[in-house]
Amino acid sequence: MELLLESNSAVIDWAKIILNCCYLFGSVTFILGLKMLSHPDTARKGNLVAATGMAIAIFATIFLYPGHDGNGLGNYPWIFAGLLIGTVVGTLAAQKVQMTAMPEMVSLFNGMGGACAMLISVIEYHHNASPSVGMLAVIVLGMIIGTVSFAGSIVAWGKLNGKIKDKSIPGAQYINFILWTALITLSVMVIGGYISDKMLFYAILLIAALYGVLFVMPIGGADMPVVISLLNSFTGVAAAFGGFLYDNPVMLTGGILVGSAGTILTMLMCKAMNRSLKNVLVGSFGAAKTGRAAGSGEQSSYKEISLNDTATIMAYASKVCIIPGYGLAVAQAQHACHELEKILGDKGVEVTYGIHPVAGRMPGHMNVLLAEADVPYEKLLEMEDANDQMASTNVVLILGANDVVNPAAKDDPSSPIFGMPILEVEKADHVIVNKRSMKPGYAGIENELFFRPKTSMLFGDAKKVLQDLVSELKQM
Ligand code: TAP
Repeated sequence: MELLLESNSAVIDWAKIILNCCYLFGSVTFILGLKMLSHPDTARKGNLVAATGMAIAIFATIFLYPGHDGNGLGNYPWIFAGLLIGTVVGTLAAQKVQMTAMPEMVSLFNGMGGACAMLISVIEYHHNASPSVGMLAVIVLGMIIGTVSFAGSIVAWGKLNGKIKDKSIPGAQYINFILWTALITLSVMVIGGYISDKMLFYAILLIAALYGVLFVMPIGGADMPVVISLLNSFTGVAAAFGGFLYDNPVMLTGGILVGSAGTILTMLMCKAMNRSLKNVLVGSFGAAKTGRAAGSGEQSSYKEISLNDTATIMAYASKVCIIPGYGLAVAQAQHACHELEKILGDKGVEVTYGIHPVAGRMPGHMNVLLAEADVPYEKLLEMEDANDQMASTNVVLILGANDVVNPAAKDDPSSPIFGMPILEVEKADHVIVNKRSMKPGYAGIENELFFRPKTSMLFGDAKKVLQDLVSELKQM
């Protein structure tokens, strides 16, 4: 009997050692993958490396984790059914998604991460008959952060796909204050064990969900990038709490990495928008300010330019800067854009791209888009570098960008985007703007740039316009 026990514990120890090696391997792949994601050349591989580590960590947990009673996880049919459904839905969604709908999908998936963290807390709250104060704190905090992330991400998803409009809520700051006070009070009561009524726990969950909705709802104008990265970091932190709960190092590492990467991204986005995080969170801008809404007030006149004139002016330029924006992604015109850049290069024109940090609808959107068309990475200039070179640039070609070149950000204190750094295209000799109409961009405000003396409008779908420009240039 003793021998049997000894050999059993030896087996369990080996299983533990292998499990921990798998976790270590998973953690290392997350770090390597994250590092590789920072460059377009290695990003795809980085994603694969991290996904492999995650798969190993998941299967190691399923097959090697001893469980509470040493008999493994159990519930295998449920676990594999969940894995199967998740894999099928995730694969189909990722395959079918249009490039322009990617930000919404990322937001939705981020919300699912928050929901998982919330459910983990709910389950563990019921599992632990007499949890310690520390355990309760981890459960409640993980549940609050996960719920806020879930509810906020769903609203962000609705906003990005246009189903939910920005709504400034009267007295939002007071409502938020009341919700926060209620959250803190109830959490202290539950964590401190003063009241063990399960309804209180669910009241916290409901308040956190309401806060998540109210917190994202009024954030409007062009400030969504900050919120999206903040929600991303929330999900990471909530997952890290799950790692604490299960004493699972790989969940902890993954959560901490997502949380810290999301926090760094939030700080970068705040810098890009020239906002403080506090300014974003209390919602004192965006939807609250009105600015000059598109279609309001008198319209000055704008001038148009023909394809032929555009081709000529670009062919005889020595330096051209292309400013890509959301419209380039909508038109899927990245390949045609690269074609134009190559043909201009063959004619001896120096071509660069000016990349605004919040151009498009997700962080790095333009970098990903242009990398897909094999645009050399060194041609992509960050906003500050592009602005430094603007005065020596002959032609700026704006392709489906609007808010990121709107001078109201510098000149109009009443504008919702006032203070956001922009690409200072007017320092160049000529500005050519390609879009389909005079409609506004994401922030919903008019763009004075289109009416300024240096600017000419080249109307049409970006892909068609670029293809036509390439044919014109070929004939020159
Ligand atoms: P926007 O200001 O949204 O402007 C895009 C322009 O593209 C529109 O004015 C549209 O005008 C034009 N367009 C659409 N389809 C086109 C097509 N097929 N061909 C040619 N033009 C087309 O884009 P932006 O300058 O890239 O600025 C991004 C905005 O999104 C910022 O306000 C930013 O804060 C916000 N945002 C960014 C993120 C991140 S993380 N990047 C996330 C959420 C929100 P027409 O309709 O007239 O063609």
